[in-house]
Amino acid sequence: MSRIPVLLDGDPGHDDVMAMVMALASDKLDVKGMTVVAGNSTLANTSTNALRTLEWLGLEHIPVCTGADHPIMRPLQIADSVHGKSGLDGPNFPPLHTKPVEKNFVDFMADIVRESEQKVTIVCMGPQTNVAIFLLANPDLKDRIERIVFMGGAAYGGNWSPAAEFNIWEDAEAAKIVCDSGIPVVMCGLEATNYARVNRREIGEIRAIGTRASTLVADLLQFFADKRPDADDEQKLEAPMHDAVTIASIISDDCVELRDAHLTIETDGSYTQGCTVCDFRGITGDFNAKVSVNLDCDRFIELMKDACRRLK
Ligand code: RIB
Ligand code: CA
Repeated sequence: MSRIPVLLDGDPGHDDVMAMVMALASDKLDVKGMTVVAGNSTLANTSTNALRTLEWLGLEHIPVCTGADHPIMRPLQIADSVHGKSGLDGPNFPPLHTKPVEKNFVDFMADIVRESEQKVTIVCMGPQTNVAIFLLANPDLKDRIERIVFMGGAAYGGNWSPAAEFNIWEDAEAAKIVCDSGIPVVMCGLEATNYARVNRREIGEIRAIGTRASTLVADLLQFFADKRPDADDEQKLEAPMHDAVTIASIISDDCVELRDAHLTIETDGSYTQGCTVCDFRGITGDFNAKVSVNLDCDRFIELMKDACRRLK
């Protein structure tokens, strides 16, 4: 079975890094490169964090290209309250010695899509600014994209506003461009990703795997565990590994439950900016998306542990 060519896009970010580990470890995926966007932190921090992650994993050959430093129409709002000042607080990384590729991110993405023999799957783990700009600039390449799998949104509610999840809230216009592009989309939203959580015991099990990848994932999770000294070993911590659910949905068909929906993005609402309107009955339009409605957390953690074992 040939590997699925994948282009990662994200704003590392603790859970972006966990998704990177799961993607880079999988023998089902061929990660062609990664574009970085501002979101969880500034573009400088998210770029550094992507490079640090690949260096730590000994995968410096995976090219990283810096993308947009703010949403298309709105000012950047970072989530340092969640991910810390660096955007990846917790692990102690050695000094960085690699740099992003010196190429415009739109050209970087276009080259990867053009040069791939098979259609490329784009995995978007942050605000969709880079992907939206790339699609607007290269309408002719849409038929070279298999699908866009993104972490974002929620069928009901949100985590950054009452009506919206952070990635979509941050750049609602970009998400609308992607959603309306005609490319099949898979939305890994909060109904699934909120279940992707571990407890202290499971962090210990991950650390005990003893690879550089498992140490990194455990250190990232410990950052959140340290915020809950009151939690016992069996209590699930509050920090879901949201982004890694995108990869789990691609590499395993028994982890994320998806349902067909007509998906539209609210961009004009005073209180509902970035709301992902999921119509599971298809009364407002044809089904253009598969939306996650549940997650098998035990299976997810098994996939994460397996990735940590495979990446030495
Ligand atoms: O709402 C969760 C999303 O916002 C994740 O992608 C996380 O990394 C943050 O970007
Ligand atoms: Ca992210």
